[in-house]
Amino acid sequence: MKLALDRRDATVGSIDAAVSGVFQRGEKDEPLPRTLQKENAVSGGLVGGAWDRREIRGRRKEITVVHRPDGKGRIVLVGLGARSEATAETVRRAAAEVVKALRGKGARTIGFRLASFVGERVAPDAAAESLYEGAALGGYEFLRYKTTTDGGVEEATVFLGEEHSRDEAALRRRMDRAATLTETIAWTRDIANLPADTASPQRLAEEALRLGKEVGLKVQVFDEKKLAELKCGGILAVGGGSVSHPPRMVVLEYSGAGRSGKTVAVVGKGITFDSGGISIKPAAAMAEMKFDKSGAVAVLGILRAAALLKVAPRVIGIMACAENVPSGTAYRPGDVVRAYSGQTMEILNTDAEGRVVLSDALGYAVDKYHPDELIDLATLTGAQVVALGDDTGGLVSNDDKLADGILEASRRTGEPFWRMPLTDYHRELVKSDVADVRNHTELTVAGMLTASAFLETFVGKTAWAHLDIAGASYTTPSTRKWQPAYQNIGATAFGVRTIATYLESR
Ligand code: BES
Ligand code: MN
Ligand code: ZN
Repeated sequence: MKLALDRRDATVGSIDAAVSGVFQRGEKDEPLPRTLQKENAVSGGLVGGAWDRREIRGRRKEITVVHRPDGKGRIVLVGLGARSEATAETVRRAAAEVVKALRGKGARTIGFRLASFVGERVAPDAAAESLYEGAALGGYEFLRYKTTTDGGVEEATVFLGEEHSRDEAALRRRMDRAATLTETIAWTRDIANLPADTASPQRLAEEALRLGKEVGLKVQVFDEKKLAELKCGGILAVGGGSVSHPPRMVVLEYSGAGRSGKTVAVVGKGITFDSGGISIKPAAAMAEMKFDKSGAVAVLGILRAAALLKVAPRVIGIMACAENVPSGTAYRPGDVVRAYSGQTMEILNTDAEGRVVLSDALGYAVDKYHPDELIDLATLTGAQVVALGDDTGGLVSNDDKLADGILEASRRTGEPFWRMPLTDYHRELVKSDVADVRNHTELTVAGMLTASAFLETFVGKTAWAHLDIAGASYTTPSTRKWQPAYQNIGATAFGVRTIATYLESR
């Protein structure tokens, strides 16, 4: 989506839809808010009439459309709920709802009247940024395999009007940032949405190489021969079942704009398809497992954002990519596999494959780069979805400062994360009789946390945060309606905005 800034009023008549926010009104009859006066004038009093009839109440998700009698587009009013409660996230969602409501209705350009979205807890710059984010993310569609489309909003403009035209320079900076981030999210979703026949480990590696050329990153691709040399037993075991799509590990490096010399490593689970392997999954929702690469694709998005936003720390991205399918060459329950670190894993369920590929990537990150901080993103467990639902990511960390920093960034982006405990109880559960750790426990409790205890084995003393994004990394038609309007059906690129924002803060 094209994003623009305009010093004039949204009612100038040059756009298909002029959008204003409306805060929730009380029971008493209040006069039409000041921020709707111009809208009322160009509508020939229609907006005021709707207000007087209490058709406009300002409740969240409420959308009112009025056509201008002069034929110069429509006036759209979107409810924001109580003024005292509205946050940047409220504005982000409202912008997305408007874009969704206008889709397929011939509105190509929309403009937001900034002043009407500013509230007690939403400053003008935050409102402008959120309007862009919501509009661009909500307008995203995965069109690669569609031969027809209804057509939606193509350009969103934030109109400053006389209230905010003085703030133009500061606002433009925030909006440029929002444009970079949302464009990166669309790019990330486009890759994460590719089905497994196309998005093979090799294809993900090629995307990384292309990205490296585009934004200036050093990129290395390790094929199965190189992985064998490196003794990455985990990735080779999981990837061993696939005849057509061999595994890859990809390492990307952004050198950092600051002088701090700090290094943050970001590791992602890249299972291009998770059938479960020999411990095969039931057929019902197996198609969703094309999204099991979301962690690794998020790493691509994070590196892209880091480079374009020129964040201070050096950022290392590592993608652990493999296809988990059953065959005569697949790894099996009972196997013992040695990870890059030298530690061994007893495989008791081939469907607990994410932790197995991550063992190599985490060990490699620690050994080669000695990062100050290590963050991994993975669609790791169904237990995460059971515990937190499909809007909230699980956060497990051995470092309070790192965890708090990520939670702080998460509050800014509106991508919810919730920290969960990791204790000796979970560590005990993953001890193996024959190897250092086992990938499945006989007592199937706290699945998100036993998986975390397994991962912890490979990070040593490094400050580490694990983000289990199983639920929020994609939406389906059945989960879609509970999600914010800016998350479309399919890949959401969950975690990219939060970690990019976190890196900016470092
Ligand atoms: N990729 C799945 C986890 C998952 C489930 C992601 C639902 C997204 C939505 C993972 O590899 C898996 O299969 N986990 C198993 C682990 C179990 C066998 C210990 C699970 O959660 O059931
Ligand atoms: Mn699995
Ligand atoms: Zn998986």
